[in-house]
Amino acid sequence: MSRDSNAPRFRVRPPANWINDPNGPFRWRDRYHLFYQHNPDAPVHTNVHWGHASSPDLARWQHHPIALTPTPGGPDEAGCWSGCVVDDDGVPTAVYTGIDHHHTGVGTVCLARAADPDDPALTEWKPLSLPVVPGPPDALDVVMFRDPFVFRHAGRRWALVGAGHADGTPSVLLYDCDDLTDWRFAGVLLDGDDPVAVDAFGDKAVGWECPQLLVTPGGHWVLLVSLWNGDPSATGYLTGRLEPSAEAGLRFTPRTGGPLDHGRDFYAPAVLQEPERALMWGWSWESRGPGEAERAGWAGVLTAPRVVDVHADGTLRVLPAPELETLRAPEPFVTRAGTGTRLPEAYDLTVTARTVTTVGLGEGLMLRIDPTSGTLAVHRAGRPAPVEVRVARGAELNVRVLVDGSLYEVFVDDRATVTERVYRRPGDAPQLTVTGADSAVTAWELVGPTLN
Ligand code: FRU
Repeated sequence: MSRDSNAPRFRVRPPANWINDPNGPFRWRDRYHLFYQHNPDAPVHTNVHWGHASSPDLARWQHHPIALTPTPGGPDEAGCWSGCVVDDDGVPTAVYTGIDHHHTGVGTVCLARAADPDDPALTEWKPLSLPVVPGPPDALDVVMFRDPFVFRHAGRRWALVGAGHADGTPSVLLYDCDDLTDWRFAGVLLDGDDPVAVDAFGDKAVGWECPQLLVTPGGHWVLLVSLWNGDPSATGYLTGRLEPSAEAGLRFTPRTGGPLDHGRDFYAPAVLQEPERALMWGWSWESRGPGEAERAGWAGVLTAPRVVDVHADGTLRVLPAPELETLRAPEPFVTRAGTGTRLPEAYDLTVTARTVTTVGLGEGLMLRIDPTSGTLAVHRAGRPAPVEVRVARGAELNVRVLVDGSLYEVFVDDRATVTERVYRRPGDAPQLTVTGADSAVTAWELVGPTLN
């Protein structure tokens, strides 16, 4: 059988079948571990387990056996949904959403502990038989409840849980969980009526899934949420301050916000807080029909790791993790504008546009970069409207594109990202076409050990 040129080979995805959210990115001793929502039996979203991969360097990954499996008759009998992993007094511990057969999107908070913290592969995980949070707090009319995210602040451990209320308001709930087995509901950290949130996201979401919180080296706090409106729709960020509050213990005061990614194929990011930086992975779903995923035998992929920071004006700063440069071949396959260069299946391309520049990446995707207006338009075949992104105008606009099979990640300066899926048809031999005489372009094929 010929290789599937649409299948990413460097980014994290299971050997086959279904993947959705990244879960619990976690540094343990000298490896990065990354878990993910996974159905091992079919490329569809059901019977969700936690798949597991790890890497010494964020660039080269290896598969591990499935970490979490639904327990028949247990609180996660119908699915081990999203969550995080924390170091609980020397024991890596997964804090995740348990879903039973009666659920309607309202989960419980469950724990599973690494069976042997000295196993560098963290192969085996043991779930607790009872949830640590049996359901949402009373009195708030919560109709969606899932995706615990544990963090530390001022020497204590806290958690966020994504929620939606019966009146259609999304929120992030806050728990005090200094002792991971003893959770206390502390209050609503933020809800969708907040004016900065309304401004940043509109008011379309009825639930905020997968809340994530990070602090930048400059002391800015960033809250990420996935906007659920009956279906997964888009992602958003808010930057601001996290402060003590008499009522809830902590209050998040947003300053500004906006879309986290401007593309159509990015959702449910997960964050790893490191001492000097924060890393983020997202889920990129298939944008082809389910029949095609069925035939291909796989669906979904995680993005490359991105470093998230905040600019002085409070807007988000996002760049690919520098470690990804180690995947570049020693010599670039393109060093200047022109036409007719055959594109490999996985590459890393940089463009410095000084005048209006177009970058054709085969028939499927074309970028139009205009530094004088500070705009980038992503034209995708079969989609009438381009995705348009506006950043600051300047003498130059730098664009980086990471391509792995059908996964395209566009970084517009360090100010915006656009994640899209573009598929090759059998026999396609896409070519690179760059116009813009004063513009510089360099691209490297990705090489080295692949995951799949
Ligand atoms: C986000 C999400 C989470 C949930 C998981 C289930 O894509 O819906 O809210 O925990 O996926 O797989």
